[in-house]
Amino acid sequence: MDLQKLLNEMTVDEKLAQMTQLVPQIITDKGEGAVTGPMRNFGITRKVTSKIGTLLGGTGAEQLKFLQDFHMDEDPHKIPLLFMADIIHGYRTLYPVPLGLGASFDTELAEQCCAMAAKEAVAGGLHVTFAPMVDLVRDARWGRCMETTGEDPYLNSKMSAAMVRGFQGENLEKDKIAACVKHFAAYGACDGGRDYDAVELGDRTLREFYMPAYKVAVDEGVELVMTSFNTLNGVPSSANKYLVDDILRKEWGFDGIVISDFNAFYEMISHGIAANEKECAKKALDATSDIEMMSTCYVKFGKQLLEEGEITEKQLDDAVMRILKLKEKLGLFDDPYRGASVEEEKRLHLCKEHRDLARVAAEKSAVLLKNDGVLPLDENVKKIAVIGPAADHGMIGGWFCCGTVAEAVSALDGIKNVAKNADVKLAFGSTFDPNEKPEAVADRIAEAKKLAAECDAVVLCIGEEMDMSGESHTRARISISDAQAELVKEVCSVNKNTVTVIYCGRPLALEKINDISPATVIFWHPGTEGGNALANLLFGRVNFQGKLPMTFPYEGQSPYFYNHLPTGRPNGNGGYCLRYLDTPYEPVYPFGYGMSYTTFEISSPTLSSNEMTEDGEITVFVNVKNTGNVHGIETVQLYINDVTASVSRPVKEMKGYQKVALAPGEEKTVAFKITLDALKFHTFSGEYKAEKGKFKVFVSNRSDVKEFVEFKLV
Ligand code: NOJ
Repeated sequence: MDLQKLLNEMTVDEKLAQMTQLVPQIITDKGEGAVTGPMRNFGITRKVTSKIGTLLGGTGAEQLKFLQDFHMDEDPHKIPLLFMADIIHGYRTLYPVPLGLGASFDTELAEQCCAMAAKEAVAGGLHVTFAPMVDLVRDARWGRCMETTGEDPYLNSKMSAAMVRGFQGENLEKDKIAACVKHFAAYGACDGGRDYDAVELGDRTLREFYMPAYKVAVDEGVELVMTSFNTLNGVPSSANKYLVDDILRKEWGFDGIVISDFNAFYEMISHGIAANEKECAKKALDATSDIEMMSTCYVKFGKQLLEEGEITEKQLDDAVMRILKLKEKLGLFDDPYRGASVEEEKRLHLCKEHRDLARVAAEKSAVLLKNDGVLPLDENVKKIAVIGPAADHGMIGGWFCCGTVAEAVSALDGIKNVAKNADVKLAFGSTFDPNEKPEAVADRIAEAKKLAAECDAVVLCIGEEMDMSGESHTRARISISDAQAELVKEVCSVNKNTVTVIYCGRPLALEKINDISPATVIFWHPGTEGGNALANLLFGRVNFQGKLPMTFPYEGQSPYFYNHLPTGRPNGNGGYCLRYLDTPYEPVYPFGYGMSYTTFEISSPTLSSNEMTEDGEITVFVNVKNTGNVHGIETVQLYINDVTASVSRPVKEMKGYQKVALAPGEEKTVAFKITLDALKFHTFSGEYKAEKGKFKVFVSNRSDVKEFVEFKLV
């Protein structure tokens, strides 16, 4: 297709419509799409919608083929629609929410999961996913922790690259979809963890913590970038020239599509930086925003702005060309349906291979926090109780796209599948309501307690309902509810053989139950195969290997993150130092923490040299030994601290990790290379470089390690 010729033939109205994205129901009353924001009467006519460039939220081969036909009949230049949707943790077969995937520390797994989602989505007629979401998050109150891989820039970057590769493949092959990294930038740093609230960040923090995972996606060839709702230092991202034009386009060389978030152009008015939709359109185009999602400033005012000389046709052409190029790359001009196929949907969706991968992903994501000898449970147990609001519930997670709870395996079903000869009993105990008081469910708790007393083992399934995390689902208090805590207390008082399984989309404050529960597992929102994965883990058919990708704080500590700066008055020196009066200073569980059915011994680190030159490298060695009785996988983590620099540096920063598989008694040497890149930062004078001096090196299986060795950069 000669795209330049096509562009030359297009009218200004056609160009502006290409730059607009709406939901299918605005185009035809036969269309449906996921709506995740305000819907207004946009006051636009069929003349506009018939030329529209992209739709969001529609799914399924049948619907999307219908919409493509409907559109192609009307579009003056027969430019196919681009269909986009949120495929965040699977299309129909769902894997754990991204925070769970982060806990696996397994980038190959993340890539495979995204590749599976892409395949299913292609069959369902989609072309673009609004993923990966790689916003770094430090505040557990933010609902969208669920969609990120956590608080560490190194882990987030590894996951970001893997996810882009999984969705897009090498070059958008036929079973791949285009990825859209989001939300650019620093959306996760909202004040108070309140979704949509303002973000104020210094340039150093922005660049060192928040930017790397987006940058890596760009380097990996991501096709789209979504700008975030929030203001960053006073400017909403869709209008933020510094962010989009200077950094993303010019500094990083991104030449793909920049799309706004839902209604974000229009929201410039509420942000107080535009008086009307015309000003929104001008500011967005000046910031090189190509597609306006779910508002209509471009189509309504673009032409007028052009006639008044406020914008140029070149600006429009650049944007439209980027959109046409993606359509061409996806092959839509040759085949507007692309892979949409009802037969392929039937063949692929929820097929055994996909369910198996979803199960493995849930197994690898689970984090064992505590085990006072309860686990693994005996498969030959006679009578087992599965108790709690998540016990008989397919906890697929909040961005379920085309997946359904009915197609998912609950904990109850999973346990029945494995403990085939056991008498498996169910009790609800409490609801998910975070404000529920024990008195309100006293009868249910009593019933659960009675059942627990009669059973040989109990699996208590509590935590957050799927819709208690995610967009706009901020929580001020992240504790286990009083009713759930009472349930744990009562059940554990009569049955010591109890494991508490916590379903959540964010870190929860566990102090109410941590000492009471003899065994505790973080299971996130695990997806379609959750129940089977859980049973495999609890009965010891597979081992735990997940590590926390975010700190699990006490209530009131958030934001709390391991890679913070030191202070002049570190904790541990009595009063007038870093501390809380009413909770311990340390979190309940640190970043990087997670147990296994075996134990590992990690030796003190040794260095290949105590000095490193700028063009040299140092190798850090540790021996890792499986000192238990079963095979296990340990995630060995490398942290560095720059002791003295021109600006204060984080107390620890993860600079590498390796997953090591060991048979009982087996021992391996793990080596990490440290090069200059790992030591670079934005110095006081604004350069990105390493400064000479002392560095501490820590190697462990958790971030709160104290022991270190030192070297000097000379
Ligand atoms: C709003 C969300 O912030 C974004 O992540 C999502 O992709 C869009 N809605 C479209 O559904």
